Amino acid sequence: MSLLTVIIILVLIIIAWWLIPTKDPYVQEVLSFQGNIERGNAIFQVNCAGCHGINGNGNVGPSLVDVSKHKSDGQIIHQVTGGKTPPMPKFQPSSEDMADLLIYLRQLS
Ligand code: HEC
Repeated sequence: MSLLTVIIILVLIIIAWWLIPTKDPYVQEVLSFQGNIERGNAIFQVNCAGCHGINGNGNVGPSLVDVSKHKSDGQIIHQVTGGKTPPMPKFQPSSEDMADLLIYLRQLS
């Protein structure tokens, strides 16, 4: 194998690595919806406001104001569905509900 072949293979592996998170089928499905802020607000009030405050400005959980400035859509989705940061529970919203939540979270400022 020539050095060039090795380099090309390495570059392809690195590109694939970066693409994997966005290839998550659930994330793709969520991002295919336009999202409805009103519905997102309702879902937020029921599931999230207890910890993140009714305006998302924080309580037991951190403030979510401007969260989209430091977290990508994919990261926000994984935060909600992952259950990796207790005490925040793991949520399993339908992709449409998640899209509504996401659009709601993105406009919090
Ligand atoms: C039981 C309390 C609780 C509930 C309910 C909860 N969260 Fe959280 N959330 C937390 C805590 C605590 C953190 C901080 C986790 C950490 O980073 O260690 C967090 C972190 C987050 C973050 C990342 C914030 C950042 O600045 O990076 C997002 C986004 C988020 N929550 C969204 C939601 C959404 C949307 C819901 C409702 C579907 C929800 N949370 C429900 C407690 C909660």
